[in-house]
Amino acid sequence: MIRAEGVTKVFGKNAGSAIPLLEQGKTKDEIQAETGHIVGVKDANFELEPGEVFCIMGLSGSGKSTLIRCVNRLIDPTAGRIFFKDRENGEREITAMNDAELRELRKHDMSMVFQHFALFPHRTVLANTIYGLEIQHRNAEESQQVGRKVLDMVGLGGWEDAYPHELSGGMQQRVGLARALATEAKVLLMDEPFSALDPLIKVNMQRELTRIQKELDRTILFITHDLDEAMRIGNHIAIMDAGEVVQIGNPEDILVNPKTEYVANFVEHADPTGVLTAGTIVLPFDDTQFERVAENGELVYYVRRSHPEGFRFGIDRKRRLQAVVRPGHHESVEIAPLVQIAEHAAEIARTGRRDDIALRCDAQTVLRTVLKGRSCSTVPTVVTDADGRLRGIIDEPELIHGILEKRGHREHAEATAADEKPSAGGAG
Ligand SMILES: Nc1ncnc2c1ncn2[C@@H]1O[C@H](COP(=O)(O)OP(=O)(O)O)[C@@H](O)[C@H]1O
Ligand SMILES: [Mg+2]
Repeated sequence: MIRAEGVTKVFGKNAGSAIPLLEQGKTKDEIQAETGHIVGVKDANFELEPGEVFCIMGLSGSGKSTLIRCVNRLIDPTAGRIFFKDRENGEREITAMNDAELRELRKHDMSMVFQHFALFPHRTVLANTIYGLEIQHRNAEESQQVGRKVLDMVGLGGWEDAYPHELSGGMQQRVGLARALATEAKVLLMDEPFSALDPLIKVNMQRELTRIQKELDRTILFITHDLDEAMRIGNHIAIMDAGEVVQIGNPEDILVNPKTEYVANFVEHADPTGVLTAGTIVLPFDDTQFERVAENGELVYYVRRSHPEGFRFGIDRKRRLQAVVRPGHHESVEIAPLVQIAEHAAEIARTGRRDDIALRCDAQTVLRTVLKGRSCSTVPTVVTDADGRLRGIIDEPELIHGILEKRGHREHAEATAADEKPSAGGAG
């Protein structure tokens, strides 16, 4: 829906003169020292799919605001092109639009929410919300209907006639969000809209934004300096460092495979429990990790190589998991869907963790849910495909490595081995 190609913004009187220097590979600091020009954004490339939340994340000063402002041409990029595509008009080049075209674009296609935006103090909440519709000369009654609907959505139903000074900061921010939603713009540009909010309110707003976005199917370009926020709401995240986009990926990609030290530093302090999936942390069911120990009629039993006296996992000829047997027992424990049990985690915790039930989940289940299940049962969690085939198990080492290392146990073991033997190139 939005595509940026080689977008560069240099601040200064003779900005274009910095482009050759950038092409020579000079850094932002070198160019500033040599020419006094400030590189805001350097050669940014990214693409937004319709209906997604795309986050731009980075430290303060990394170029996030500059980049989002180039997208709706609040500032003009020094080099590069930006395109906007929708069903009615096909693809149009934003960077080639004249003032009239830009006004239309901002009116109908893109609306922007800032961290500190101004509500009109003498207008009611409803009047503030539908301000954008009024300047579009929309029918007043219709506008009010839309306004009431979006205020309901952001949790401000009943506050239509209040004035801004009667609202808390968090509620005022909701009005800002409602105002952007009311315009029916296809793309919302949001520059750190929640950064000034208290943590608890912030998390609520993130949740609501995700819900509303799904309901209204808007496309959102969202800026934040908080990786946890980006991972909670983003389908894709672009990470900026000193004007450059250094990595783009989905939240789990970024978490598991940070491409630069800068990204790794963010990841180190991020909460993986809502992002990492069972499929990533699972100990895969293969010969290197599991050993065949017995056969009994239809089933073949395996144990974890590192724990030969532990649980036995019985699979049928189609690799479907049929039995999980405790040490010293012959009968399988019950195998139950983890998501169902996890819903009752609090009750079960009260009566004690069970050792006679194996919880089964699929590869997409997030770590937090796996942990909830684990608080109900001491038996290793089993990860299966849609057709019941065993993908692997998640036991304590996998959980611990997921939380601490933010990746799979095996990848961690391999990385550690590689660190210890730097000359062993190609092995494994
Ligand atoms: N109008 C401007 N004039 C000169 N430099 C600017 C201007 N706006 C931003 N910058 C510089 O561009 C860089 C990126 O800034 P900005 O996009 O605001 O970062 P962020 O939003 O990630 O905090 C910073 O070095 C900043 O100082
Ligand atoms: Mg900014």
